[in-house]
Amino acid sequence: MNEQISTIGVLTSGGDAPGMNAAIRAVVRTAISKGLKVKGIMRGYAGLLNEEIVDMDTKSVADIIQRGGTILYTARCHEFRTPEGQQKGAEICKKHGIQGLVVIGGDGSFQGAQKLSHLGINTIGIPGTIDLDIACTDYTIGFDTAVNTAMEAIDKIRDTSTSHERCSIIEVMGRNAGYIALWCGIANGAEDILLPEKYDGNVEKLIEHIKETRKKGKKHHIVINAEGIGKSQELAERVERETGMETRATILGHLQRGGSPTCKDRVYASIMGAYAVDLLREGKSNRVVAYSKGEYVDFEIDEALAMKKNIDEYQFTVSGNLAR
Ligand code: ADP
Ligand code: F6P
Repeated sequence: MNEQISTIGVLTSGGDAPGMNAAIRAVVRTAISKGLKVKGIMRGYAGLLNEEIVDMDTKSVADIIQRGGTILYTARCHEFRTPEGQQKGAEICKKHGIQGLVVIGGDGSFQGAQKLSHLGINTIGIPGTIDLDIACTDYTIGFDTAVNTAMEAIDKIRDTSTSHERCSIIEVMGRNAGYIALWCGIANGAEDILLPEKYDGNVEKLIEHIKETRKKGKKHHIVINAEGIGKSQELAERVERETGMETRATILGHLQRGGSPTCKDRVYASIMGAYAVDLLREGKSNRVVAYSKGEYVDFEIDEALAMKKNIDEYQFTVSGNLAR
């Protein structure tokens, strides 16, 4: 155990994700139970640079495990991308006695944590993003809630799509990654799933498929389109023009980021939060907590950022075969 660490900080950064509150709660309560002091840094790295730092105790995290969003708020901060901003951030941590920092966010946030670690602040990242696009981990906090929220919304669109015998193009989030689209595509029984990692941009082929399913007697045609491909409205207009089938585009948007976290998100977030504190107590720094091959593990941030993640080929093939 590293006796040096007596005070740690915690912040959330980048896009919020359901389950972040459960992770904050686990960090605070684990740390306090092990005799550490905890400071909450509001609004991510922006709040760090503005010294928006508050003392936290077990009561500060009461009644939050079931709430979406993040009680610490979150932000994107351009200044922290600069060496001057990072230096200032490290000095502010030192001024407030913060020797270790837990950063809950995505790859961008981990890059900030990596910089702080090089400046003498022990940092540990926790993967929090609905996008599931962090290569070192099979699981990111918020993904499960987001796909369940999107799945329920898409079921509702399917009802009206079937009643009107329409084609529906539904755009889901994920930035440049297609995981939300692929999972919803399978869970909602979509006829077509367009993923940035796989889609070749062949609209003619998509239109032929829509015509074919209509001939076979399908009453609706659901296309799940990933945000990374986008242009859903444009696509809907072209599909309607070339198939003669009424077509509507729906962009699900930020509703996918909100809501009460699922059981899975709460539990993974709680364990990852506790694990991060244990790493800090062991004197570790510049590491990210991950869930890989059925186990909670940790990786050096540099190694984690260099990893590449791909869409699972088998899952993708199955999704295509089921959509007939
Ligand atoms: P995410 O963490 O979800 O990937 P962003 O990419 O928006 O989200 O990153 C969140 C924040 O992390 C940024 O606003 C910035 O403050 C910080 N950050 C991102 N990249 C870097 C970097 N290369 N160096 C330092 N800080 C960074
Ligand atoms: O990273 C989470 C995410 O919701 C992405 O899926 C999306 O591309 C982005 O954040 C949207 O960001 P903003 O909330 O700034 O519009």
